[in-house]
Amino acid sequence: MCGIIAYTGYQAATPIIVEGLRRLEYRGYDSSGIAFVQQGQFRCIKAPGKLNALVDKLYANPNPMLATCGLGHTRWATHGAPSEANAHPHISNDRKFSMVHNGIIENYREIKAELTSKGYKFFSDTDTEVLLNLIAECRKTAPDNLSAFQRAIKLAHGTFALVLLCGDEPDTLYATRKSAPLIAGIGEHENFVSSDVTAFLAYTRKVIFPDEGELIRITPNTCTVFKLDNLAAIQKETQRIEWDAQSAQKGGFKHFMLKEICEQPAVLRSALAGRLDLAGGRVVLPELEGLKSLKKPERIRIIACGTSYNAGLWGSSLLEQWGNIPCTVEIASEFRYRKPLLSAKELVILISQSGETADTLAAVKVAKSAGCVTLGLCNVVGSSLARETDRVIYTQAGPEISVASTKALCSQMALLALLALYWARQTKTLSGEEIQKHLFHFEQLADLLEKELPEMREEAKDFAVRAASARNIFFLGRGRSFALALEGALKFKELSYVHAEAYAAGEMKHGPIALIDPEFLTIAIAPADEMFAKTFSNIEEIAARSGPILAIADKQGGKNIRSEQQLNIPRVPEPFTGFAILPLLQLLSYEAATYLGKDVDQPRNLAKSVTVE
Ligand code: F6R
Repeated sequence: MCGIIAYTGYQAATPIIVEGLRRLEYRGYDSSGIAFVQQGQFRCIKAPGKLNALVDKLYANPNPMLATCGLGHTRWATHGAPSEANAHPHISNDRKFSMVHNGIIENYREIKAELTSKGYKFFSDTDTEVLLNLIAECRKTAPDNLSAFQRAIKLAHGTFALVLLCGDEPDTLYATRKSAPLIAGIGEHENFVSSDVTAFLAYTRKVIFPDEGELIRITPNTCTVFKLDNLAAIQKETQRIEWDAQSAQKGGFKHFMLKEICEQPAVLRSALAGRLDLAGGRVVLPELEGLKSLKKPERIRIIACGTSYNAGLWGSSLLEQWGNIPCTVEIASEFRYRKPLLSAKELVILISQSGETADTLAAVKVAKSAGCVTLGLCNVVGSSLARETDRVIYTQAGPEISVASTKALCSQMALLALLALYWARQTKTLSGEEIQKHLFHFEQLADLLEKELPEMREEAKDFAVRAASARNIFFLGRGRSFALALEGALKFKELSYVHAEAYAAGEMKHGPIALIDPEFLTIAIAPADEMFAKTFSNIEEIAARSGPILAIADKQGGKNIRSEQQLNIPRVPEPFTGFAILPLLQLLSYEAATYLGKDVDQPRNLAKSVTVE
């Protein structure tokens, strides 16, 4: 995910910014850049690749140490490829403003068209450069830089954290945020703005957290917060950060995995950003335009590995139900060698967080050689999968550092649901009103999850201690909950090294039920959906054989389940319940593994990116 660090004070800005950028590296990035004002002129130095490439360029610049104020950025590409032109900071056409940005400006196309008609030129593919030039345009009539910033921000839709530097106020920074983190650091005759407190923690622990709907103006000795609406100045309390620099990299969380689980509301917002047209009852996916087999595929085959495979299995039922398109799901390592009979009319969807999984990449080749159109769902911009598929849709989950995949799955499920709704409109399987209702529920999910996560965490702790004492566990579910059971078992075994397997609950009586005894634990996923009565009967069959049961169910339905303990699924409209069950399963595995003293972020024998078969 992108990172921002900006400085204004009495010291040379560039070494402080470079140091801040180094502390942001863990977030993952593909290019970086710095801008400052030197002798009345903007200097902007950017480089694709690692930070050292930027540092080499920076110190080849004459007198890079003179400026005492500047902007720094690490970019994780979303709009446009990772390149020097697309790297931040950007400079406005009139060379009076420079800006760094995290997030997405959803209406940048409209703004760009208007600015283009006024003669503006764009040198990158980014939405950031568009907003920056809008600020420059607003400045033509605004009384000062603050008002110009305010006017432009009011016109921008989307999610953003922004820091602006103006050529005529070379020691002043303007900043704002919407659904993206931004923090001001308050030092002695020097101040900072960053997307992550880690970047300036070596200099100050005093911070101000601007809220949405606020702008801040920072000089070496002042930090003033204004209301976006009317520019009235507001008093904001300074807070003290107690984390050490190491744990702050994890945003105060003990492990990256926990941080990434808790990031899922933000991940959902980011996956949906710019893709929901609520008023029009439409999903906006420009990535699917221009290819007939993407507009309305005859058949779909999803191919992936591990957690990404589980996402495919979860989404396939929606693609069939809503999209009315036959859909099968395959494990990439099986698919690539089994000489599958493929029709050129099939759309092959490859899902991969890293975009570098060897088996999934091999499957692209097999699909292409059969003449199929390939669509990648991928998290890492510019990865091999993104390059090799005909089209790619980015999941926009931000870098996943913990080896065990968590938030990427949430974003993959979100995209599959979006695709199902997109095709539901093309195939007219759902009415406009039905699609609109689902989009509305989808949009509300992130807020709901955000509210429920703290309680889910507490509940998962007790439940996890019980599960951690088991030697063998079955995770059971039916329908979409079977895909989640697979994920629950995968996460549990990879983190805690306790033997866990998933079964479709209806399969138990075809063999596995022979294993059930008072020692063999069953974790049953039984949301109040159309499969509840069936799952309930399967759980009864286990209880009748003295098998201990932990139930993951909604409060009401779970009352009748003969379980030792129950983990409550918060109320979420169907079919989105999976988005609430998923963090429960992830937290359960996380808590069990930490209770057992395991290395949750780097489980033994595993790698984050499986580039060998
Ligand atoms: C499990 C996990 C793996 C990955 C699998 C595919 O927690 O992380 O099962 O999901 O290796 O990786 P990607 O999605 O990068 O292709």
